[in-house]
Amino acid sequence: MDTKSKISQNVQVAVRIRNHFVNTANEKKVNYDGTAVVVKAESFDSIKKTFSSVVIHDPEKRKGTRVFAYDRVFNKNDSQEQVFAVVKPIIDRCMEGFNGCIFAYGQTGSGKTYTMQGSDLSNERGVMPRVIEQITAAIADGEKKGIEYNVTGSYLEIYQEQLRDLLVSDEEQGGNINKKRSKIHLIDLAGSERVESTGATGTRLKEGSSINMSLSSLGNVINALSSGNTHIPYRDSKLTYLLSDSLGGNSITLILAISYDETIGTLKFAERAKKVKNNAIINLDPQSRK
Ligand SMILES: Nc1ncnc2c1ncn2[C@@H]1O[C@H](COP(=O)(O)OP(=O)(O)O)[C@@H](O)[C@H]1O
Ligand SMILES: [Mg+2]
Repeated sequence: MDTKSKISQNVQVAVRIRNHFVNTANEKKVNYDGTAVVVKAESFDSIKKTFSSVVIHDPEKRKGTRVFAYDRVFNKNDSQEQVFAVVKPIIDRCMEGFNGCIFAYGQTGSGKTYTMQGSDLSNERGVMPRVIEQITAAIADGEKKGIEYNVTGSYLEIYQEQLRDLLVSDEEQGGNINKKRSKIHLIDLAGSERVESTGATGTRLKEGSSINMSLSSLGNVINALSSGNTHIPYRDSKLTYLLSDSLGGNSITLILAISYDETIGTLKFAERAKKVKNNAIINLDPQSRK
């Protein structure tokens, strides 16, 4: 199989940090346990003008510095358009026939829905409307060259172990010649932060407990994949079953992890997820599409 029809790569992880202005050193933030932490984006690429790691410094505990490395780090001043720049190339590959999965992870109120959906203001539109626009334009463009597309898209929210499809309908196109097939999942993991790492109370606490099953399953799947186990417990929860194609499977996968307040749990989750390797193969025949 040639390289154009096969992509082996790790799950891509981009982190969006909202609460701290990470370009300025020494901004203090009081943690849930009363200690002060400093959160900064680092590893600045002066050509691309992008950050790729997050550094947490806990001066009072004197635990030293903890560095988390990702594919990309956005700070609170980065726009929806800048965030979409990491999504766009994945959708380009989907239009060649690969499957894609983009999911938002982070505590309630961190900005998952804002990132995925955004608002109606044109510059605040999130990933979903921009993806639809990109797909529509690519289909119109391809049709001029006689290419037919079969794109199945879903925009799902998983909240307290319930799946909700946020799209009114799926788009399907038929035809035989020069056909491209792809399946694109956009997933909003609502309430996706473990309660023990947040010190949450009330609604957050309830969400934390209810989503614990999906989340601990997700953690187990990611652990199994990143340590090379042969048995991957995909069937343990709805979430992991849904993601079985996307984590360690036939999909180009991007996690948008959104960190608000201290949420070191989100940073840790995102760091582990980066170790998962996927093998995406172009969909050549109808059998490859479920
Ligand atoms: N990057 C951002 N810039 C400005 N406002 C934001 C941003 N991210 C989130 N918000 C706002 O913060 C609030 C919570 O965000 P939301 O996306 O609903 O969180 P979640 O879906 O993770 O629970 C909303 O009012 C939202 O408009
Ligand atoms: Mg939400």
